[in-house]
Amino acid sequence: MNYRIKDISLAENGKKKIDWAEVHMPVLVNLRKRFEAKLPLKGIKVAGCLHVTKETGVLIRTIRALGAEIAWCGCNPLSTQDDVAASIAQEGISIFASRGVSNEQYYDDIHSTMKIRPNITIDDGADLTVEMHNDGYVQDEPVYGGTEETTTGVIRLRAMQSAGKLKYPVIAVNDAETKHDFDNVYGTGQSALDGIIRATNILIAGKNVVVAGYGHVGKGISKRADGLGANVAVTEVDPISALKAKLDGYGVLPMNAAAAAGDIFITTTGCKDVITGQHFGKMKDGTLLANAGHFNVEISVNDLEAMSVSIKQINDNNQEYLLKNGNKIYLIGEGRLVNLAAAEGHPSEVMDMSFANQLLSVLKLANLKGSLSPAVYDVEKSQDQEIAKAKLESMGLQIDVLTPEQRIYLEGFGEGT
Ligand SMILES: NC(=O)c1ccc[n+]([C@@H]2O[C@H](COP(=O)([O-])OP(=O)(O)OC[C@H]3O[C@@H](n4cnc5c(N)ncnc54)[C@H](O)[C@@H]3O)[C@@H](O)[C@H]2O)c1
Repeated sequence: MNYRIKDISLAENGKKKIDWAEVHMPVLVNLRKRFEAKLPLKGIKVAGCLHVTKETGVLIRTIRALGAEIAWCGCNPLSTQDDVAASIAQEGISIFASRGVSNEQYYDDIHSTMKIRPNITIDDGADLTVEMHNDGYVQDEPVYGGTEETTTGVIRLRAMQSAGKLKYPVIAVNDAETKHDFDNVYGTGQSALDGIIRATNILIAGKNVVVAGYGHVGKGISKRADGLGANVAVTEVDPISALKAKLDGYGVLPMNAAAAAGDIFITTTGCKDVITGQHFGKMKDGTLLANAGHFNVEISVNDLEAMSVSIKQINDNNQEYLLKNGNKIYLIGEGRLVNLAAAEGHPSEVMDMSFANQLLSVLKLANLKGSLSPAVYDVEKSQDQEIAKAKLESMGLQIDVLTPEQRIYLEGFGEGT
């Protein structure tokens, strides 16, 4: 068997988790049932670099059921669920992923995954796609294309495209409405708070929660923190997003002013150096810091270390930094994606739609067999509609249908006052 994981004896536990997730992912499972008899991915090699969670286990099982050969790795050093990785390995799939890997091991795992010489890549954050390009794998075998799961990855890939460096087509799964309007908002909203609570058991009610960034993730987290009784304030660099936050009922202020007022800070920007040394010195004793953006660059851990006299591990996901000024600051999950480092990632119900988008995009790339030119492509509206419809049906919900007269009215200009 071809794998590098923490402990294969955890497989039974991982299998139970994947089986459980499957029950809550009806859209993806129904797609599996619809396609599996025809094995549409037979002969296709798929490399995946995406958080190894129980929901990803369901996606991997589905891609395999459709005939693909698969190699997988994690897309973050702290997000792999070792029991799930063990179960995937036990199911005979090549996997290179463990929780708590060094940076070197992280890239080594990506390179081991690439050795499958994939026709299709599935990425989350674009590390795999970038390595495929850097290491010349793109010339080797026909790479039909790739998919990208998250905002930061899509931004990186669009930058590669603009620089003329993107050598194969990529479908921006993140940009599907049934992905970013649900996964980023409701998924991260709930699971980021879950991560902070699991790591600290802190009472959210009555706390001043500062959310950096009011995009999809920031909105979701603000709403959930508000619902738990926090006083939410938002920092932004975009005037429209800041205005939306204000009219949604939250405070708006720059990070320099927020630093002294907040009890809990959660970064969601996809940007770097959002909270740095200039802010730590102003913070209250006992301040909690967490990040929900893709990379661990939003909170400057280097500055925090430089300003500290000691660092104490409170539990697996909570580190206490004793500053030279005597204040203690707590960093959750090392400043990595808090919902995956300190909790289990997004709930299965929401990953159901994200991964249905992944599967349909992989099928599309397999069908087109490299006939798309290298560029970043949006998911088609029809795919979004199909997934939303299937999700509603799985929830036993029905909606109205336009009458022919209504359709003509909406498409025309004839009828006025
Ligand atoms: N934790 C998770 O599971 C998860 C899930 C989805 C997305 N993400 C990641 O979260 C990040 C945000 O994703 P999104 O979909 O909300 O993106 P988005 O583009 O919708 O929102 C980002 C917001 O941050 C603001 N911003 C940028 N730089 C800032 C700065 N320096 N200070 C304050 N605000 C700033 C932008 O103006 C924007 O409004 C990305 O890195 C994405 O990949 C994480």
